[in-house]
Amino acid sequence: MSRNRLVLASSNAGKRRELKALLADVSIEVVSLDEAGPVQFPEEGEEYLANAVEKARAAANQLGCWAIADDSGLEVEGLGGAPGPLSARYGGPGLDDAARAAYLLEALALRSNASRKARFVCVAALVSPEGQVKSARGECPGRILVAPKGIHGFGYDPIFEPDGFSVSMAELSSSEKDLLSHRGVALAALRPEIVKMQNQGDDGG
Ligand code: IMP
Repeated sequence: MSRNRLVLASSNAGKRRELKALLADVSIEVVSLDEAGPVQFPEEGEEYLANAVEKARAAANQLGCWAIADDSGLEVEGLGGAPGPLSARYGGPGLDDAARAAYLLEALALRSNASRKARFVCVAALVSPEGQVKSARGECPGRILVAPKGIHGFGYDPIFEPDGFSVSMAELSSSEKDLLSHRGVALAALRPEIVKMQNQGDDGG
């Protein structure tokens, strides 16, 4: 068991990159699954919290260390909150990020401006080697653009304009995105728990 390792329980490269940057100042070695070893993840459901906890729990159990996972998605008003927790699979199998974004734009093509109101949601879960769980949720409100813009980030970033900005999420630098994103907000709320849980673990040997 390694008390000094925190595994990022995600196979999504974009998420992993962001989580690593957001955890840069935590005094624990942050490693990816490539470095820590393979994990058998359970089938994902349709709830952010349950998905995030189960992913982190699987990694913590199987690798015997700390694990953090995020479950996230894009909720679009005109689509009744879809794709939500199913964002990674929206449009069916075989689509890449650009094709999924195009599919979503198509679904909104003839809809009103109001239907473009949207938000990114992220629930991050931290599980200790002993199975203790903490979680936090972050949201980033905005709207869906009519066409993709920008080359940074991942997923739906090129078609999402955060409230208060006139650029897409994919036109922001990674540090700008981290300051306002759903993942940034969730991780900022979870960070004190990481420190607290670690200290408790240290006290108990
Ligand atoms: P998960 O792995 O089931 O949590 O899927 C999350 C999916 O939501 C990703 O594959 C993206 O399609 C989308 N998503 C989540 N966070 C972001 C983000 O920060 N930018 C763009 N798309 C995101």
